[in-house]
Amino acid sequence: MGSTTGRLTGKSALITGAGSGIGAATAELFAREGAKVVVADVDKSKATLTADRIRDDGGVAEPYAADVSDETQVAGLVEFAVESFGGLDVLQNYASDRSVIAEDVFVADADPSVWLRQLGVDLMGCVLTAKYAVPHMTRAGGGSIANASSLAAWLSLESRPAYATAKAGVIGLSKSLATQYGKQGIRCNVIVPGHIVSPATEKMYSAAQTEVMLDHVLAPRLGRPDDVALAALFLASPESAFINGQVIVVDGGMSAYAPVVPSLRRLAANGR
Ligand SMILES: NC(=O)c1ccc[n+]([C@@H]2O[C@H](COP(=O)([O-])OP(=O)(O)OC[C@H]3O[C@@H](n4cnc5c(N)ncnc54)[C@H](O)[C@@H]3O)[C@@H](O)[C@H]2O)c1
Repeated sequence: MGSTTGRLTGKSALITGAGSGIGAATAELFAREGAKVVVADVDKSKATLTADRIRDDGGVAEPYAADVSDETQVAGLVEFAVESFGGLDVLQNYASDRSVIAEDVFVADADPSVWLRQLGVDLMGCVLTAKYAVPHMTRAGGGSIANASSLAAWLSLESRPAYATAKAGVIGLSKSLATQYGKQGIRCNVIVPGHIVSPATEKMYSAAQTEVMLDHVLAPRLGRPDDVALAALFLASPESAFINGQVIVVDGGMSAYAPVVPSLRRLAANGR
């Protein structure tokens, strides 16, 4: 196993969307830090690959196939996590349906079934996992939940309005969970990745578009799944015990500056 400081020793964690990208990196980091991890994904083969990597590294993981938009499947998933590891301390949601991207277009052309699918996975997945996890966490005296949102929740990329709406909903949901269950020891925070290079974004963006993303990051490089996983680890660990209902942005500074800055820099470079 790689180097670890045991920040999640003794914890059991359920991570959705853990077959790929940020969710997979988070599952692997949590296992290295001592957590027992249920690696959940709609794609069983991807969940199994992540769990295999964790086990090969000396960690403890169980893969589980579930569609987070389906209440019966989510109830089974949470039950599986509780039974596998004797409880549930950490829930993190990264599941996101990328299959409807091409149809998530201008609102005047909206197909309601596309909207319902995007909201069903990206938003209702967070609702349903919380619905079934919270009772276990409150009985055990608390727990930590984190849900993935996106800069798209408040900075429109013009395309993907259903995705933006789902991710904005995740923020409202997470603040509601923090408020409703904080006194019972449950914390719920939001992780907002900026442009992170993952299998999904590598398919979505051309090389030229990726260059544009790099132009708009204040860091000298693009973000990696591990950058988000490290923030996720902080939110899962006792180090963030007094942080609840907050939105943590992991975007290399992409949302920190005024939109006019690139244009002003171009003018300055031309002596104007
Ligand atoms: N990568 C980025 O740049 C970026 C930026 C902003 C927000 N995010 C958010 O971070 C999270 C992870 O992003 P990523 O790039 O690693 O995504 P990804 O597409 O690589 O991984 C998402 C995973 O969710 C799974 N999934 C899809 N539908 C599901 C369902 N119905 N039930 C269960 N699992 C399902 C997929 O199989 C996949 O393994 C997502 O919520 C995404 O919206 C990512």
